[in-house]
Amino acid sequence: MITVGVITASDKGSRGEREDLSGQVIKSMVEEIGWEVKDVVIVPDEQRVLEQKMIEFADELKVDVILTTGGTGFSPRDVTPEATLTVVERLTPGIPEAMRYASLKVTPRAMLSRAQAGIRGKTVIINLPGSPKGVKECLAVVLQSLEHGIEILKGTAGECAQKP
Ligand code: MTE
Repeated sequence: MITVGVITASDKGSRGEREDLSGQVIKSMVEEIGWEVKDVVIVPDEQRVLEQKMIEFADELKVDVILTTGGTGFSPRDVTPEATLTVVERLTPGIPEAMRYASLKVTPRAMLSRAQAGIRGKTVIINLPGSPKGVKECLAVVLQSLEHGIEILKGTAGECAQKP
């Protein structure tokens, strides 16, 4: 069973001024494929707060995947990628590359996503855009291959099978 922590970075959401639709989209998409969501939180766009929540989810809750939504754009308050880069030990650049590659076919604005992804201990951390639409489009791209990556990270998949 793959376990997941969901972090929404949103100043308005954290003040209760906006409903967390994107976090709920992530939750239902991963539950649909049988993964278990351990926690869903909304935090303000503060780098230290984001870092601490990622560290808590990875080191204490020990989830296999942390999926963040929001804070990946150009606003001065968008700091989710910076928080992610601070806490990961190894980068997984292919994940945001794949998301941007697929997303550019949907909208040229996908180039504005500064999303990052990487590994901290046995946890994969992936940034998704802030909109529910962006979340759906990006998560659909990574889910299948991500499962294989997690199995390798956990040592439950020995070799890369020839499956697509
Ligand atoms: N990616 C997909 N697949 N679909 C989208 O609608 N929106 C883009 C981009 N990536 C989008 C997307 C836009 S408009 C922005 S500004 C950036 O993600 C950053 O979004 P964020 O600041 O909400 O995280």
